[in-house]
Amino acid sequence: MAANDGRLNGNRAQPPDRSERPHATHAWQPRHTRYAHLTGWGIRLPERIVTNAELEAVVETTDDWIRTRTGIQERRIANDRETVTLMGFEAARAALNRANVLPSAIDLIIVATSTPEDIYPSSASKIQDLLGATQAGAFDLSAACSGFVYGLNMAAQAIRSGSINTALVIGSEVNSRVLDWTDRSTCVLFGDGAGAVLLEGSDQAGGFMDAVLGSDGSGAELLGIPTIGTTNLPEGRQMHKLHMDGREVFRFAVHIITESVRQVLDKAGLSLADVDLIVPHQANQRILSAAARNLNVSEALFYSNVHRYGNTSAASIPIALYEAEREGRLKPNDNVIVVGFGGGLTWAAAALQWQSVQERAPKGLAYRLSQGRRELQYITAFWRARALKTYRRLEAALRGSPAKHANLRESAPAKGKEESARDKR
Ligand code: ACO
Repeated sequence: MAANDGRLNGNRAQPPDRSERPHATHAWQPRHTRYAHLTGWGIRLPERIVTNAELEAVVETTDDWIRTRTGIQERRIANDRETVTLMGFEAARAALNRANVLPSAIDLIIVATSTPEDIYPSSASKIQDLLGATQAGAFDLSAACSGFVYGLNMAAQAIRSGSINTALVIGSEVNSRVLDWTDRSTCVLFGDGAGAVLLEGSDQAGGFMDAVLGSDGSGAELLGIPTIGTTNLPEGRQMHKLHMDGREVFRFAVHIITESVRQVLDKAGLSLADVDLIVPHQANQRILSAAARNLNVSEALFYSNVHRYGNTSAASIPIALYEAEREGRLKPNDNVIVVGFGGGLTWAAAALQWQSVQERAPKGLAYRLSQGRRELQYITAFWRARALKTYRRLEAALRGSPAKHANLRESAPAKGKEESARDKR
């Protein structure tokens, strides 16, 4: 395994020019060699299955077109209650159960998503609250479909540095809410869902090995979701709706999967012959077939469940990892490559050694006891959040705080004041 130098843009072949960096007086050293192992994984999918045949009634398309051009047969669509937060929370709970870890042990929660309920508060903070992960920092990460692998790298590097020990990385999306359901070239491709993995520090070698991350913002207009800060919406685009140049993204995807898999293998000191499974972002079966051809490997080396879920953006890789493990495609010490690509443009690939720590099989009285403690922490989290909200309201009332938003009105520009005075009249 290649030594990790902590570079984010590891996709570049040349080493960074360290002469331009400020010199530290004391070179920082990690406490001792730490490894980040994936010890838990879980998913949450909406119950509602929408088949291609059902979409024939929505847009001018056919089951045959969707199957032959994409490999997709059906996808899951969230109901009103199934949000990024709720699905992410439930996937996280399943991952904690699998790893047999308490929420209070989590140091960091990263949620990769492009479809949060709010720009802020982050979905990660809401999930932190629901879990009762009172010791955890939390933030959302925006890197479209590459977001999960970006998050995995961030969390693993924090563990490897000795800064933290336990991190949850979640990919959660409700793409159905940002689709233009009159655009047949995009609405048939996407689905909803969430997947989570738990990473834990260990002195035992293995787990997360290395990653390459990349970005090419010159391709920004190829794929995106314009939102609140947009001041100049180009012709034909809609606010909060996904747009995509499918052909260009297809070409980019095939090229970048091939390149980033090669680069991460090189960085981790592995060859394609050492790889047991590639778990790619699930966008289109034809992309995976073309990437397998380019790499000169069997298509079977690429795990695929795109036929069942379509493209679930940042959730697709953790969902695929979960299902690959469940189907017996991931065994202890297997070398696994995860590779994502998407809006930005962005891409990311990571090399993992699967589950080399001893499996903590969920059975026996000890497991049931810790399962009970986890449930207790969720219940405590619920009441703790309520108590804190009530306390804040009471405290504000006792202090005689002015009405909600009063401070905003005071600091608003003069025009805003005039308008609110007009509104009152
Ligand atoms: N049903 C029927 N016909 C359709 C549909 C549909 N759902 N969608 C498009 N067509 C038509 C087009 O109008 C076009 O008709 P025309 O020839 O009369 O103009 C024809 O099918 C061919 O269109 P293409 O765009 O050339 O079709 P292509 O084979 O390229 O497939 C697709 C389109 C599936 C979108 C493909 O380009 C693709 O998968 N691109 C990559 C998408 C992707 O990976 N996106 C995710 C990125 S990750 C993220 O960050 C979100």
